[in-house]
Amino acid sequence: MFGGGYVGLVTGACFADLGHDVVIRDVVPERIEQLRAGEIPIYEPGLEQVVERNRERLQFTLEIDEVVDDAEFLYIAVGTPPTPSGDADLHYVWTVIDQLPQELPGRPVVVMKSTVPVGTGEAVRRRLDARGLTHVGYVSNPEFLAEGSAVRDFMNPDRIVVGSFDPDDGERVVGLHRGLETEVVRTDVQSAELVKLAANAFLSTRISFINEIANVCDLVGADVVDVAKGVGLDHRLGPHFLKAGIGFGGSCFPKDVTALKQLAGNSGYQFMLLQAVWEVNELQKRRVVQKLQKHLGSLHGKRIALLGLAFKPNTDDMREAPSRVIAYRLLSEGAEVRAWDPVAHPGDLPGIELAETVLDAVRGADAAVIVTEWPELATLPTPEVREAMAQPLIIDGRNLLDPVAAREAGFAYEGIGRPRHATTPNPSHREELRT
Ligand SMILES: NC(=O)c1ccc[n+]([C@@H]2O[C@H](COP(=O)([O-])OP(=O)(O)OC[C@H]3O[C@@H](n4cnc5c(N)ncnc54)[C@H](O)[C@@H]3O)[C@@H](O)[C@H]2O)c1
Repeated sequence: MFGGGYVGLVTGACFADLGHDVVIRDVVPERIEQLRAGEIPIYEPGLEQVVERNRERLQFTLEIDEVVDDAEFLYIAVGTPPTPSGDADLHYVWTVIDQLPQELPGRPVVVMKSTVPVGTGEAVRRRLDARGLTHVGYVSNPEFLAEGSAVRDFMNPDRIVVGSFDPDDGERVVGLHRGLETEVVRTDVQSAELVKLAANAFLSTRISFINEIANVCDLVGADVVDVAKGVGLDHRLGPHFLKAGIGFGGSCFPKDVTALKQLAGNSGYQFMLLQAVWEVNELQKRRVVQKLQKHLGSLHGKRIALLGLAFKPNTDDMREAPSRVIAYRLLSEGAEVRAWDPVAHPGDLPGIELAETVLDAVRGADAAVIVTEWPELATLPTPEVREAMAQPLIIDGRNLLDPVAAREAGFAYEGIGRPRHATTPNPSHREELRT
């Protein structure tokens, strides 16, 4: 397994759990040292136990030779971040391909787990052939796990997608998953590559769609939670990914939406829908600022508590997290920002104060913004929190709280697309609510 990040580590450990011998190679020495010492460098529920019970079958290394030695499958799970143009940056992938030794016995199969643009498999095939590695197979086996539930997702996948040039290589990769009960989609390499990008683009589209509905709700007096429930009960639509909020983030959706849009553009097709999905998401993050201004007027000198920094609960991943945009929009409006997160403790948010506890974050705050729906925040509207705040205002960016209960607990409350439950802005509402 090349890459010991969120995907490589989880996939490698889970393959070991299925009974395979796995060697994970990364290029970050501290990461490998930690793993060898039994420490898990990322926060992912259940991963530690899987690694622990498979110690015998799992090895961690910095060395190429150790990872390729006798390997039947050469999994690639390195990062594919966006370039400034929006295309996927494949240089980590090419480094792996170019570092494969010339002598590889048997018929090892390079298996692409990283999310890559359509056409990457063909390009890798050409590069392997040009290096004389014609006996090395190539298979696309995209990964659909979600951070926060990655182990469960690997063990209970909705499907396994395997695209190959050579049918036997594909069957061997399917065979690796023996023990998992699910549908297998066998296809060509290009289609497998596109399944991954299309799935993430579609999920992102659903989020932007329901966020637009929420914005309409704010204007017409409807409640997006009820609307989404009514829409999602239609069996043709289903209930998933219809939760309105302050937009999607993370290392996958933003990157994959851009990559697909860019891929289409490079091929001569303008993917207008994805352009809109992207723009809606960017605006959605900023709506928090407008909602705060609606209640507080100018944010200059106001103290705002940002509750949650990770892009979603149960992960410490802050890549493309909406919290980053919101934090810096608030700073540029002149607000003081104090943030709390139970596991994400970033060192790269200059100007943002990090608090140890929720109570520390909200102390003296003019508003608390729920940015990530951590379970710890479900009980936010307590008398203790209300007393600690300078103004008991909650902007619930994830519609986590019961609006009625929050208001009964003495808070001014505003969710996303829940105007029936919003509090009319009034600078003296604290006094009103208390009397
Ligand atoms: N994170 C997710 O939820 C998720 C889900 C599905 C697919 N993916 C895709 O999987 C890929 C990996 O994502 P991730 O979140 O695990 O990234 P990550 O950044 O967490 O991990 C990538 C790892 O690869 C290592 N690496 C870089 N060059 C290497 C090399 N030459 N040899 C060995 N290791 C090397 C890095 O040090 C890093 O630890 C991406 O293409 C991503 O789009 C991610």
